[in-house]
Amino acid sequence: MKKKSTTGRRLGLVGCGAIGSLVAELLEKKKSSFKVTALYDARLEAAQLLSKKLKSKPKVCRSLSEVFSVCDWVLEAASIKAAFPAAEASLKKRKPVVMMSTGAFLLHQKQLSQLAKKYKTKIYLPSGALCGLDGLKAARQMGSIKSITITSTKPPRGFSGAPGLTSAQKKSLEKNKSAFYLYQGDVWGAIQRFPANVNVAATTAIASGKPKMLKVRVVADPKATMNQHEIHVEGDFGELTAITRNRPSKMNPRTSALAIQAALALFERLESYVEVGN
Ligand SMILES: NC(=O)c1ccc[n+]([C@@H]2O[C@H](COP(=O)([O-])OP(=O)(O)OC[C@H]3O[C@@H](n4cnc5c(N)ncnc54)[C@H](O)[C@@H]3O)[C@@H](O)[C@H]2O)c1
Repeated sequence: MKKKSTTGRRLGLVGCGAIGSLVAELLEKKKSSFKVTALYDARLEAAQLLSKKLKSKPKVCRSLSEVFSVCDWVLEAASIKAAFPAAEASLKKRKPVVMMSTGAFLLHQKQLSQLAKKYKTKIYLPSGALCGLDGLKAARQMGSIKSITITSTKPPRGFSGAPGLTSAQKKSLEKNKSAFYLYQGDVWGAIQRFPANVNVAATTAIASGKPKMLKVRVVADPKATMNQHEIHVEGDFGELTAITRNRPSKMNPRTSALAIQAALALFERLESYVEVGN
């Protein structure tokens, strides 16, 4: 079989945790034309460990600028805080950037969109742990959307370390036997309080084009074994309900396994001559 051309497809990873490391391993296993050539993590040992695991032995970088010197594309899979500077710098270097921390894009939407336009370089926001965005994007083409809600339900351990937990909520996470709301409100408040749990809400907000309309609910359920996201949209097109039940990633219970596969599906789409879905 003819070897796929990897020209212009050297990929630099910013963040070598649950998403970054599995995406890198699976791209290599699939013999993708996207070849991981640079690894950067705030914990140097995470990048070193991943480099050892990969046959291609990507360069372990100590700064973002080192990453840019050996890649054509960037995959951000670090954190909401890390994502903006990484995306900003990638665009300025004319390196297309795939952002997993979509909340960071929402918080800096205007600035990042202007940079993308100025440097003629794309930003990609994968669907991540969520299904239904294709319908939402189609629905907004046809007249008005009247309401959008997303309810994210996870087992209590999925919320450990969330900065927005009150001390009462921390106790409830340990003791409650039934499901309870941790948050109900707009998407910006959700990002502030549960930055590692509500990227799906941010992605929904961006895809809808009506972030202010989105109502976000975050639920902890001691009986849940999966991370569930339910979106409900009503508008001139009719009604849409999409429920996704994801197995949590083994490496990081806040992250759903599907989010990792969504990044891989995006890279597959980018190297394919036929595109399915909108
Ligand atoms: N879009 C989605 O649907 C979706 C789904 C799950 C997770 N996410 C987001 O994707 C990101 C990665 O998720 P994950 O599960 O791999 O997280 P993780 O915690 O397993 O890994 C993140 C890695 O990034 C590193 N890191 C943190 N700050 C950094 C910085 N400033 N520079 C370089 N490296 C840094 C950490 O040391 C860690 O190794 C998170 O922001 C998460 O919230 C998005």
